[in-house]
Amino acid sequence: MAQSLRIAVFTSHGGSNLQSLIDACAAGRIDGQIVLVISNNRKSYALERARQAGIEALHLTEKKFDSAEAFAKALVNKLTKYQIDLICLAGYMKFLPPMVLQYVRGRVINIHPALLPRYGGKGMYGLRVHEAVLAAGDTETGVTIHQVDEIYDHGTILAQRKVSVLPDDTPETLQQRVLQVEHELYPEAVAQIASGAIKLE
Ligand code: GRF
Repeated sequence: MAQSLRIAVFTSHGGSNLQSLIDACAAGRIDGQIVLVISNNRKSYALERARQAGIEALHLTEKKFDSAEAFAKALVNKLTKYQIDLICLAGYMKFLPPMVLQYVRGRVINIHPALLPRYGGKGMYGLRVHEAVLAAGDTETGVTIHQVDEIYDHGTILAQRKVSVLPDDTPETLQQRVLQVEHELYPEAVAQIASGAIKLE
């Protein structure tokens, strides 16, 4: 890993996890900086958060390109231009093209709002995750940071933190409590990657 980690964050919606990473870098809790934010969604508030922090923010979607390959090449070009060491997915609702995964070779991580391998996979996102946890009657859920491979929510688990399910929880209240823990765990995991305490094989 480089001395000071150069990070790209890919995101699709509100970007609260992006904000937690921006804040942790600004506070010196991560030995690194976010130098690029990419969203497939033009209306993503994450793009605004990035701009307010002075970070290059790009709306890049496959729809704007003639082919999937052209899109993948454009992403790789950006990663090269900004000398990215690590990609953090934070609510990014798309698969990264195989060409990008090959280019980054394991240096891409994701945050998931449950204790993988439970409640992961296609269709398990947003409130659906918390609805499934409640429907199963689980007494605990949590947050997972994992390496990204070509299968949804599948790569090596790097960090997890548990969250209790309360008897009167709704999917919305559970989502909020899990999100607060996401905002702690993601910066901590990235800090550990930056320091070498977590190694990405
Ligand atoms: C988070 O719950 C994250 O775990 C999941 O998508 C959500 C993104 O939220 N992958 P935000 O855009 O960071 O607020």
